[in-house]
Amino acid sequence: MKTPYNTIVLALTLAGLGFGAHAADIGAGKARSAACLGCHGEGGVSKSPMWPNLAGQTASYLEIQLKKFKSGERADATMNAMAEELSDADIQNVAAYFASLPGKSAGGDADLAKLGKDKAAMCMGCHGDKLQGNGQFPRLAGQHPKYIVKQMLAFKSGERKGGPMGAMASHLSEDDIKALAAYIGSL
Ligand code: HEC
Ligand code: HEC
Repeated sequence: MKTPYNTIVLALTLAGLGFGAHAADIGAGKARSAACLGCHGEGGVSKSPMWPNLAGQTASYLEIQLKKFKSGERADATMNAMAEELSDADIQNVAAYFASLPGKSAGGDADLAKLGKDKAAMCMGCHGDKLQGNGQFPRLAGQHPKYIVKQMLAFKSGERKGGPMGAMASHLSEDDIKALAAYIGSL
């Protein structure tokens, strides 16, 4: 049977509008995210610094990290196993879902946060002037300080590879990192 001309026009129009096979499906992402909420929290806001907040994170960064966990390039036994279960479409959908949720401030030690604020200018060129993130550059604002410290130390030691972050972290002392993390959490 020949495909009716109208169907082809409709398909091309929808693809052009971004409704093609590659558009993220937030509803499907929400359904798939049920497996994530036990750790990452209802609404993507977690109750423990062991688990990063995902709410309000940029979709591109979430996709990149889930692919890195899936390939093993970013090592974490729990997340490597979780990401292995996700297809490329699942990854796109859950990333769009968590990106659509409002972020929440984890809070940070007020005195340390003041010290950290002075050092944060060097982070804003990539992470945004409110550390709100932009595309491949993750949102930092409001993230759990203990999680931030863990990641910065992993970048510093080379255990986690993250483009420019190895060099950035290598210039910072552990005290600098704790102050920056308190400021980040307080946002
Ligand atoms: C059993 C607990 C657990 C479950 C369930 C879980 N995660 Fe995670 N997730 C973690 C931990 C722990 C980390 C931090 C790993 C690290 O320290 O590098 C993490 C990190 C992440 C990160 C990186 C965040 C960042 O800021 O870099 C993403 C993205 C993520 N998880 C997505 C998911 C998704 C999507 C699901 C559901 C399909 C999920 N996780 C289920 C424990 C979990
Ligand atoms: C030249 C750009 C650039 C600058 C400047 C920069 N970053 Fe980053 N940062 C990145 C990129 C890219 C990533 C994502 C790395 C990856 O793919 O794992 C990242 C990731 C991170 C992460 C991991 C977030 C998460 O959710 O796991 C933290 C924490 C971080 N940066 C903190 C900082 C701090 C603090 C500063 C300032 C001292 C800073 N960055 C400066 C580019 C930059």
